[in-house]
Amino acid sequence: DKAGHRHFMSKEIAEQPDVLANALKYYTTDREGRHLLETGVDFSQFDRIVMVACGTASLACFVSKYWFEQIARIPVEIDIASEFRYREPPLNDRTLTLFVSQSGETADTLAALRYCTGQAGKVVSIVNAMESSIARESDLALPILAGPEIGVASTKAFTCQLAVLASLSLQAARQRGLLDEAGDRELTDQLRRVPGQVTEALAIAPQVQAVSAQLARYEDVLFLGRGALYPLALEGALKLKEISYIHAEGYASGELKHGPIALIDEEMPVVVLTPHDAMFDKTVSNMQEVMARGGKIVMVSDARGLKDGGDGVWQMIEMPKIDGPFAAIAYAVPIQQLAYFTAVEKGTDVDQPRNLAKSVTVE
Ligand code: F6R
Repeated sequence: DKAGHRHFMSKEIAEQPDVLANALKYYTTDREGRHLLETGVDFSQFDRIVMVACGTASLACFVSKYWFEQIARIPVEIDIASEFRYREPPLNDRTLTLFVSQSGETADTLAALRYCTGQAGKVVSIVNAMESSIARESDLALPILAGPEIGVASTKAFTCQLAVLASLSLQAARQRGLLDEAGDRELTDQLRRVPGQVTEALAIAPQVQAVSAQLARYEDVLFLGRGALYPLALEGALKLKEISYIHAEGYASGELKHGPIALIDEEMPVVVLTPHDAMFDKTVSNMQEVMARGGKIVMVSDARGLKDGGDGVWQMIEMPKIDGPFAAIAYAVPIQQLAYFTAVEKGTDVDQPRNLAKSVTVE
């Protein structure tokens, strides 16, 4: 049932404020969101976290690496399951392994999990399907509570994975004694604001749709971001290519001049994800490098960012103002919608893109 939407993907994008609120409520047990659920993971027991997943789920891991390392000061290694499983990486009981999978049935992720069983200190999974193989075979399975996801392109599962990982990063910081009262309160408040920010981000759909009508005419698109927005740039590129079949790549803004800038011309729009944060000025100078070479910028930022850095850009998308490390969650919305509206504009099969399966149970 598409609940009045033309596609499951659009329904699932729209559900995000509700499912995120549910997930955050589950992982924070009191009204103030102050007390985190006792998940059964003691992060003070581990020296590092190894996260393994495929596709969009692996990009959720990549975003959360910034949170775990910056907020909880615990080293995080991320890997895609198909590489991890055959590399035979060394593990020990001070290593926490974390497997993220919407379906819980992805063959490579399951094989990687089996490799870790008995070698790692703990095997934890973060899944949507709690009756899945991955959930069953882990020491502990944590639900993302996104509800059924039908569209092949993952949307609400991705943001719910992020919400759960963000909650765990705060839990890790507390257990490791790294948050004072004020810092704790501030980060928890920022996390609680996410569903509202996602609602606001959904409201800018008409702007995103107008940009998509333009993007649909191009054959290549570049996505750029810094910090936690870098893996989001990778996710933006993945989403766009998988449903609109436009070739897209994501790069860290700072990598631009180390190669991809050679591609820049008026035929390859560059989507820049940049809240007005500590990294903003650096990203703006990367944007200027693109524009100086005739590149077309789609700038996704807040009102202040667009005002301070928007001179000469081709298209603007105005996000709400979001402070703190969890901005990446709400910034997922415009990149999902960019892919969605571009695909609709091109008339591709949004919910069932060619050559793709919802659950990849073979290697
Ligand atoms: C992209 C997408 C895929 C999945 C990947 C992992 O939109 O949906 O990249 O994220 O196949 O699937 P799960 O999470 O079920 O292990």
